[in-house]
Amino acid sequence: MNVIIITGAAGGIGKEFLKLLKDEPGIDEFWVVGRTEGKLLKLKEEFGDKIVPVTVDLTKDEDLLGFQDYLKEKNPTIKWLINCAGTRALYKKDVSLPRMLATIRTNCVGNIAMCYACIPYIGRGDHILNVASAAAFQPLPSNNSYAASKTAMKFFSLGLRTELKSRGIQVTCSCPAWVSTELMTFEPDEIVPIKKLPGVTTADRVAKKSLRQARRGKAIVFPTLKCHVDYYITKLAPHFFIQWYAAHVEADNFKEFIESGIIT
Ligand SMILES: NC(=O)c1ccc[n+]([C@@H]2O[C@H](COP(=O)([O-])OP(=O)(O)OC[C@H]3O[C@@H](n4cnc5c(N)ncnc54)[C@H](OP(=O)(O)O)[C@@H]3O)[C@@H](O)[C@H]2O)c1
Repeated sequence: MNVIIITGAAGGIGKEFLKLLKDEPGIDEFWVVGRTEGKLLKLKEEFGDKIVPVTVDLTKDEDLLGFQDYLKEKNPTIKWLINCAGTRALYKKDVSLPRMLATIRTNCVGNIAMCYACIPYIGRGDHILNVASAAAFQPLPSNNSYAASKTAMKFFSLGLRTELKSRGIQVTCSCPAWVSTELMTFEPDEIVPIKKLPGVTTADRVAKKSLRQARRGKAIVFPTLKCHVDYYITKLAPHFFIQWYAAHVEADNFKEFIESGIIT
């Protein structure tokens, strides 16, 4: 049985991947992974019987182990694993410790765990596509644990690419900058460091470019010009400038955010 697995499939970018791959030839099932069962069931209503909702909270070891058992039972051939689940910090004070850790646990640990669990079922010519972020290019005060989680995901993806090369498995890491999705909508009581999102793009554009470049075997995908610019600035500029850039170009409300005493 050939399957495509997408984590965060009900989200802005994840759903666009599903739309683009839904008519992929030779696929028997699409396993849509996320934590909210209702949202996954809606995908089944929208995209039909090949959709298999798999409820997994990536922050929970017991859910990850349950998913590993599910794989053992079904023994699928995974043609694409797309790790797109993600979350961000809440821009508030007194956020609970589990919620603060959710960013690292979801974006990094959970998606890496999905790679470990799925790799035994991925064969030659098939793909892993990890969605990291342009936040992976530098430390990002005001989006700090998010940037750390994405940096880990980017490095893990590049290392994994080399580890899996001789097995013919393609690993690609997509690094979008701002994308207009639910992730970037803020609650009224959040003190956000960024109100206008420079170079913001759409989820369908990110998914399209990421898939196209993954099929071409690229290591890293830069979905927009801003990602290219960020990547080269942070590679070439001295550290003090990068820190200034992060606080003043990547954020337009940094002063109020810092004065509020929030840490991310
Ligand atoms: N939006 C941006 O500006 C931007 C920029 C660069 C990179 N990205 C990355 O792109 C990916 C997709 O983001 P998006 O913008 O499409 O966000 P989104 O619309 O908020 O979608 C995020 C998805 O992740 C799922 N998710 C969150 N926590 C989870 C958990 N613990 N276990 C399982 N699933 C979980 C959500 O499921 P539930 O709805 O059930 O919680 C949702 O389906 C993320 O990795 C994000 O970091 C986004």
